Amino acid sequence: MCGIVGYIGDQKAKPILLAGLKRLEYRGYDSAGVAFIKNGDFQIERTQGKLSCLVDKLAGKDFEATIGIGHTRWATHGRPDEINAHPHYSKDVVLVHNGIIENYKKLKDDLIIKGHQIESETDTEIICHLIQDFLNQGYDFQKAIRSALKELHGAYSLVILNRNDNQRIYCARKGSPLVLGFNNGENFVASDIPALLSHTNEVAFLHDFEMAVLEKTQVTFYDFEGNSIEKERQIIQWNMAQAEKSGYKHFMLKEIHEQPRVIADTLLGRVDLEKMNIWLDDAGRLMKKFVQKPDFHIHVVACGTSWHAGMVARYWIENLAKVPVSVELSSEFRYRQPLVGENTLVVAISQSGETADTLAAIRESKKMGAKVLSICNVIESSIPRESDVTIYTHAGPEIGVASTKAFTTQITVLYMMAVKLALQKKLLDDQDIQDRMKALVELPNILKTFLRQYKGLDMMTEYLRNKEHCYFIGRGIQYPIILEGALKLKEISYIHADGYAGGEMKHGPIALMEDGVPVVATLLKDDLYDKMVSNVQEIKSRGAFIMGIITQGDEDTKQLCDLYLEVPEASMDLLPFVSVLPLQLLAYYVADAKGTDIDQPRNLAKSVTVE
Ligand code: G6P
Repeated sequence: MCGIVGYIGDQKAKPILLAGLKRLEYRGYDSAGVAFIKNGDFQIERTQGKLSCLVDKLAGKDFEATIGIGHTRWATHGRPDEINAHPHYSKDVVLVHNGIIENYKKLKDDLIIKGHQIESETDTEIICHLIQDFLNQGYDFQKAIRSALKELHGAYSLVILNRNDNQRIYCARKGSPLVLGFNNGENFVASDIPALLSHTNEVAFLHDFEMAVLEKTQVTFYDFEGNSIEKERQIIQWNMAQAEKSGYKHFMLKEIHEQPRVIADTLLGRVDLEKMNIWLDDAGRLMKKFVQKPDFHIHVVACGTSWHAGMVARYWIENLAKVPVSVELSSEFRYRQPLVGENTLVVAISQSGETADTLAAIRESKKMGAKVLSICNVIESSIPRESDVTIYTHAGPEIGVASTKAFTTQITVLYMMAVKLALQKKLLDDQDIQDRMKALVELPNILKTFLRQYKGLDMMTEYLRNKEHCYFIGRGIQYPIILEGALKLKEISYIHADGYAGGEMKHGPIALMEDGVPVVATLLKDDLYDKMVSNVQEIKSRGAFIMGIITQGDEDTKQLCDLYLEVPEASMDLLPFVSVLPLQLLAYYVADAKGTDIDQPRNLAKSVTVE
């Protein structure tokens, strides 16, 4: 989730690169850098911190170069400090990278044996040395890049300069975005359109396994075999505000649609289909120590949406790994005397890594002798710093206050943890492992298809937009999902929304059921489907208006609902992913119909750093 900009033309590159990076800053970053070529040498400047730190560092320095590349980093491998900041370089290669190289450790070891000196902790620097290694063998620059790409596993977009050639910028893409911008006598490359828009609206998108070579007056395109290819140019009609949201009306909607990609990013390098294993590094090693303890249990602490992620995980971990799990709000945990100790693995879940109550719960847990594994989205934030180990979600910056992609990447990590624990306890047979891993890897595509094709939300939105109350019901693992659906609706539409376990309706909430009361029910074909149908019938007969989230093609359930929205089939364990997406979208469209401030709802903050 890094920002990339490159320029070649007749103007000085420095102000163009800095302005381009500034346009990408709304995503939030931790370090930045630029590189130019002058007199056959690289000029590289990097800093930790926000872009303004780089701007300060470059102030007063006049760079003559009319070719250059720039980068703002959202750290995935290695701390967000200057040495890990991009651009990275070897003798003749300097480059910026967005993505994750899964096999970088092995490549790094091989390069070190060959005598390459690697300075940073990043996966990116390995790519420079890999290309250098092919250059050292006499390959021309483009062939050296292509040969290096063949060795990289993972996702990347790369923008590369050659020390010995100030006439060309090289780009390659597999899995992370790159867009080229064309103008008279100058050309641009960037990770996102806003970085280009003040110069040109004529663009071409690089697709996976494509390369581009930018010169001042032309851009040529190749596949990874070196064959030249044709590219269509497009005219972008967006203004700057639209471009920052990739054309979506709000960041929240953009982030909902990013979920297939960020889930894939979170799985990358962790799900190993060849070895049929899950790799969680230090976290995996800590979990292994715990599974050997006789009274091992897990205690999840979190707030808000992250707490719901923990509740989903309880079903998976207890079911698959047979490890007892309790899930608690951090704000409650910190003020009682919880029974945690050295047999407890405290799992702290937090998007921001700064939530005060969760941080306090971590400190309490450590005092009582527990170990803390955190699941976090923001690298080097306070919670990972104070935890024993951290598994990062790779959701990228989440700007909408109502959390969406952070939630689904959290549950992606939690499901991997559940499978890993089950593997460590040898509770899964080969077929079971294979099925689960394959289902996980296929999940992003299932979600992508749903987001392209879903139907039925407009009528639900119309029904709900003027209501004052709405109820959500679900059972089993769908129970935390409907709590999350209700939270989303109340956060951004300000409609009072409550979630109940289906079986609990008769113990109170059924008293509220009367003609036309809106009830959103998850009625998926899981093992509690029949129970849910009975619960829905009970409230329908009292007049409730049923809006069902149902399995695609389930004709019987359509009859039961007043309105319905179909979701694709997925493996039973992964149904929370397919049911939460329509609930996020429902909240979004109802709020949009009401005209609320969706990305910054009243009274709410993205990160709650006070008690
Ligand atoms: C705030 C945010 C929520 C978030 C909660 C926990 O209330 O508005 O979206 O779920 O904090 O935040 P965390 O960063 O710890 O996940």
